[in-house]
Amino acid sequence: MNKKKIIAIVGARPQFIKHFPFEKAVEDSFELITIHTGQHYDDYMSKIFFDQMKMQRPKYMLDIGSRGHGAQTGLMMVEIEKIVEEEKPDWIVVYGDTNSTLAGALVAAKLHIPIAHIEAGLRSFNKQMPEEVNRIMTDHISTLLLVPSATATKNLKNEGIVDNVEVVGDIMKDLVQMSINDDVIPSRKFSSDYYYATLHRPYNTDEKDRLKHVLQSLNGLDKKVIFSIHPRTINAMKKFGLDRSSYSNIVFIDPQGYFDNLSYLYYSDGLITDSGGMQKEAYWLKKKCITIRTESEWVETLENNANTLVFEDLTSLTEIMNIKGQWNDSLYGKGDCGVQINKLLQVIK
Ligand code: UD1
Ligand code: UDP
Repeated sequence: MNKKKIIAIVGARPQFIKHFPFEKAVEDSFELITIHTGQHYDDYMSKIFFDQMKMQRPKYMLDIGSRGHGAQTGLMMVEIEKIVEEEKPDWIVVYGDTNSTLAGALVAAKLHIPIAHIEAGLRSFNKQMPEEVNRIMTDHISTLLLVPSATATKNLKNEGIVDNVEVVGDIMKDLVQMSINDDVIPSRKFSSDYYYATLHRPYNTDEKDRLKHVLQSLNGLDKKVIFSIHPRTINAMKKFGLDRSSYSNIVFIDPQGYFDNLSYLYYSDGLITDSGGMQKEAYWLKKKCITIRTESEWVETLENNANTLVFEDLTSLTEIMNIKGQWNDSLYGKGDCGVQINKLLQVIK
């Protein structure tokens, strides 16, 4: 019997990472075709993940690249639609909340292809974030809503979405656990006694004074900061003439492959970030996290001082880092999210 066909849409760094455990989970049960929109395209934001995780190459590379939101999402839709009409998949799978997510979901809905949304139901309640708009839109047209937590289920219920909402945990936990079990992290040693940092949200990077203020705050911490610098931030520093050599406490490094990044986090004394995924990874690795934002979608991580939101006043980062946190091992599932999704895709529809 022919296997049912899934088209998975990826485009940005966190989606390549989420796609890896998904691919492993469904490869025996489904024919899996991947479309890479090209939202992220530098080798260290894209190719490195396919190489190091030994993932199937995407069958379709759209090379849309960086553009304004409308042009980027629209051009993705034009190309995805042609492929979906040709391939006629049984499911379209989208991850998270990027423009690639929304483009894939809109095409699927218009062509009446069932959509499975992995990481459904998250809300920041801040519609200034493009991701919040992408999530809301995607959830409202999805067939199967794969949520990580009871909070996400509640968020959906508040918007009237109750059918086919399944709590499956978080697919990124599958990968963190695989990485620990395979000793991928412990075997990669980095020097200790540092904090790790990543930052890429427009509200931290796109205005000179704000970015300068954030960098000065990292520079004032009580330990060295290793900063994996996202291309948005690299470009912003160049544009604003902010010279790396002015920040003697910060070691700037290129964006890392997944395993190196996780190792930097694993051996650190804490994380400073505005990333969604990194807040969760810090939690699972029991690392104190400071999130430079006014809100988090991952509200459970904020309990027991495991993760602290800081935005306007960045003067107490060292003190916050030194407050002890507590972590709950079962947060966002057991690391079997991929297995559960594979089963659900076979029974629902
Ligand atoms: C995007 C997602 C965000 C996600 C993040 C993950 C949207 C609206 N935003 O944000 O939700 O958290 O990815 O990292 O979908 N650039 C390069 N090389 C690349 C990619 C980007 O130089 O390979 C630069 C370009 O200057 C580009 C900028 O980074 O304009 C921003 O890229 P973009 O994908 O628009 O947004 P991100 O900030 O990466
Ligand atoms: N990540 C990575 N290399 C880096 C920084 C982050 O592989 O240098 C991984 C990180 O481990 C996590 C994902 O990228 O799995 C998070 O992506 P990002 O912060 O770009 O986006 P967000 O999660 O905020 O959407």
